[in-house]
Amino acid sequence: MTSREAAKDLVARRTIKELDRRCAALGLVTRPITRVERGRTVEVRERGNGLYELVFGPPDAPEGLAAWITEGRSDAMPDALHVADAKSEAARLAALLECAIADLAAIADRDATISDFCDKLSQSYEEMHCLFRSMRQLACPDSPRNLIDAVCADFQKTLPFRWIALAFHDGPRISPSLRSELIVAGDLNADPEAFRALAREKLGRLSGDSWTRTLTADTHPLAQLVGTDVLVEPVTHDDMLIGVLVAGGKLGRDPDISSEEVQFLDAAADFLGTFHENISRLDEQRAMTMSTLEALVAAIDAKDRYTCGHSERVALLSMMLATDMGLDRATATRVRLSGLVHDVGKIGVPEAILTKPGRPTDEEFAAIRRHPEIGYRILENITGFGDLLPGVLHHHERWDGKGYPHKLAGEDIPLFGRIIGVADAFDAMSSTRSYRSALPRERVLDEVRGGAGKQFDPDIARAMLALDLTEYDLLLQKHADRDGGNGEMRLAA
Ligand SMILES: [Fe+2]
Repeated sequence: MTSREAAKDLVARRTIKELDRRCAALGLVTRPITRVERGRTVEVRERGNGLYELVFGPPDAPEGLAAWITEGRSDAMPDALHVADAKSEAARLAALLECAIADLAAIADRDATISDFCDKLSQSYEEMHCLFRSMRQLACPDSPRNLIDAVCADFQKTLPFRWIALAFHDGPRISPSLRSELIVAGDLNADPEAFRALAREKLGRLSGDSWTRTLTADTHPLAQLVGTDVLVEPVTHDDMLIGVLVAGGKLGRDPDISSEEVQFLDAAADFLGTFHENISRLDEQRAMTMSTLEALVAAIDAKDRYTCGHSERVALLSMMLATDMGLDRATATRVRLSGLVHDVGKIGVPEAILTKPGRPTDEEFAAIRRHPEIGYRILENITGFGDLLPGVLHHHERWDGKGYPHKLAGEDIPLFGRIIGVADAFDAMSSTRSYRSALPRERVLDEVRGGAGKQFDPDIARAMLALDLTEYDLLLQKHADRDGGNGEMRLAA
């Protein structure tokens, strides 16, 4: 029962109770009343033998006479009332009841209006709150696909639709992470691939203001596929078509799509258009940052030919370790990036020291040991690199506190630093340096085993020993092949 129906029912029951009370006060016998409806009349009819009927509703109506009858019986009347008075008393009662019914019906109407207004207000509040939540969620687009999944699910829970879908355009200006994606919240009850194809076809026809908001099952294949009317709202930004927001399977007592629902989807589509614009800018920013990173890493490689590919291999090992240790994908990706730039500070170390054949002097080692802090200073002002810095600054700390630059120990060493420290040492031992040749794999693994709890975090050392190194070895081979011409890069035996 809807709130409007409940309000009507409540008023009807109150009316019946009031009529019963008034009749009882007059000593009149009442038959059970089951319904009170507005528009019915109250009349008095004489039945003879001193009996009068008070009829609620027209007698020819199906439930009219049966609805309610009150009998004015002279022997049931209080002493003060005579039979002759019964008719006038019943007529007076009829007039009173008519007024009461009119009042109660008016109250019922007002209650129903208020109830309806409350429903709409409540729905509007939910919708506004939903849009506000979405706006806040979409303001930090770290994982666009997950965010849009969550936002569409929220839209679907707030609006009375069985499902809501968002189909992205496949154009080159659409963010690669969202291009051609179809996101469905709720029960679509149709083949998603067929839906995607029809939505794409609809997208191809959308241009300017020539699109149709509501598609009906008898006129459009998209609506035919899902078996209901659908509401279509284009997602645009600066006249660029980004995708289409589709809602279908209208729920609730009103099967028609209301103007409020159209307005909500319109606002939701605006949010999504702005969100996509932010994502695109972030994509550009990330691409630019990655180019800068690659240039930095290439500069290190160019400076120290012995470490060719070292940063890339440390990045790979660090990500593999993070993944095997159970860190989530996003964190593992950040560990990889931190591994990629961990030695960027070597740019500040004289090339003569980096490439010097034989073991460096203590003074030269001191210069090399400054590279974590130089790297930190190079990267600290680059937006979006904050979480990479601990890996850069602390990848030469040791578990026993004898490392550098801050002599941190145990878990005081940031996790990124501990992971990259193991990966860095493993790769350094596995490749040729200016002052020594690459070590055999078994020897490297022995060094990792022996360094657990001393140089390395024991858990990370254990993960390193258990790692499947197939991918690492392929990368090592690739770098060896690339640098094979000048014989500087040699694989461990
Ligand atoms: Fe380093």
